[in-house]
Amino acid sequence: MILCANFKANKTRQETRAYMAVVESFVAVNEIEDTVIVFPPFTALEHTPRNVLIGVQNAYPVSNGAFTGEIALEQLEEFDIKTILIGHSERRHVLGETQEQIAEKFRFFSEQGFAIVYCVGEPLTIREQGNEALMCYIDDQFVGIDLSYPDLIVAYEPVWAIGTGLTPSNKEIEAVHTALRLKTTAPLLYGGSVKVDNAGEIMALSNVDGVLVGSASLSANDFCEMIAQAAELKQ
Ligand code: PGA
Repeated sequence: MILCANFKANKTRQETRAYMAVVESFVAVNEIEDTVIVFPPFTALEHTPRNVLIGVQNAYPVSNGAFTGEIALEQLEEFDIKTILIGHSERRHVLGETQEQIAEKFRFFSEQGFAIVYCVGEPLTIREQGNEALMCYIDDQFVGIDLSYPDLIVAYEPVWAIGTGLTPSNKEIEAVHTALRLKTTAPLLYGGSVKVDNAGEIMALSNVDGVLVGSASLSANDFCEMIAQAAELKQ
């Protein structure tokens, strides 16, 4: 399983340090073999060896240059960052990133050999139109994306489920993941209101290879509990 914690614009550097201490110790003591990835804000990046992976929530697709307010490859290399989240719904719908910009990020960071957690997902109006419309919408989010990239992880995150407490039914999650499985052999994560109460059952669904967790990952204890649930699934 792959478990990702997406902090978004939450947690200071100090809070992230305290959080990492809890999660790293949990992973070590319990000899966790699942992949754990934490995406803290840029200000909390540190040059410390970790037993969990650290990724970034975004970056600009250049080595360096005149891009005010952006972070580029050179700054990520300083922290040995080789993992990035691309196409998250908040970047698409709140920050206004276009598919063209997203595909450019994908191209640049895949050429740099980054592990890419690539997010797709439909708004509620599309979900209401049924499965065909939904998969068409997701197909458009794959334009310019190499689905055979070896370090690709795909995260299915319905926009209406993110941060709302709403989730699709297990059957609905399985239906989308089964359709995604026909398009790529990449691991498939589900994201959108995953919490301790539903993580185990979601990870047990067919074609679900892990979870991408926002709000509920902000508690180190809750995130560790989800890691424990993943470990239990293997037994
Ligand atoms: P959520 O966010 O768990 O708070 O719904 C998930 C995400 O945005 O990745």
